[in-house]
Amino acid sequence: MPAKTETNLAYAFAAESKASVRNAAFAQKAEIEGYSQIARLFRAVSEAESVHARRYLMLMRGRIGSTEENLETAFQNEIKANVEEYPNLIKDAAAEGHTGAQRAFSQARDVESFHAKLYKKAINDMVAERETEYYVCQVCGYISEDEAPDSCPICGAVREKFKQMT
Ligand SMILES: [Fe+2]
Ligand SMILES: [Fe+2]
Repeated sequence: MPAKTETNLAYAFAAESKASVRNAAFAQKAEIEGYSQIARLFRAVSEAESVHARRYLMLMRGRIGSTEENLETAFQNEIKANVEEYPNLIKDAAAEGHTGAQRAFSQARDVESFHAKLYKKAINDMVAERETEYYVCQVCGYISEDEAPDSCPICGAVREKFKQMT
């Protein structure tokens, strides 16, 4: 693939991914403020931006493999975030005394190691075809299997903060 195109695909993928999450957050805010029509618009644009992001990702060389390969990639990414990336971010937030960012980064680092475990388990279970339900903490991203816990083991959020995934 031509070098410039490869760089631009990576850039556009990152930009559209960010736009998607940002618009989803705007939708939540609009919902809280009682603007349900505006919330719907933000959600629609968020979905559209993620359509763009996925399209670019599929064009990026070697980024999407077989499910077996993708599980391994996803596992490695979680380990990297847990071991290499978040520790530096936590250190910087601590040095600058931003306790909110420090807490968010620390909880995310801990959550990533649980994500890694879920992937590892899925790699091992792939042939077993075990059915598992997943519940995601809407505060810290911790994933609980089979049922939502009374409170999140990472951030302490109550059961109602867990979203069941389909
Ligand atoms: Fe993760
Ligand atoms: Fe949590």
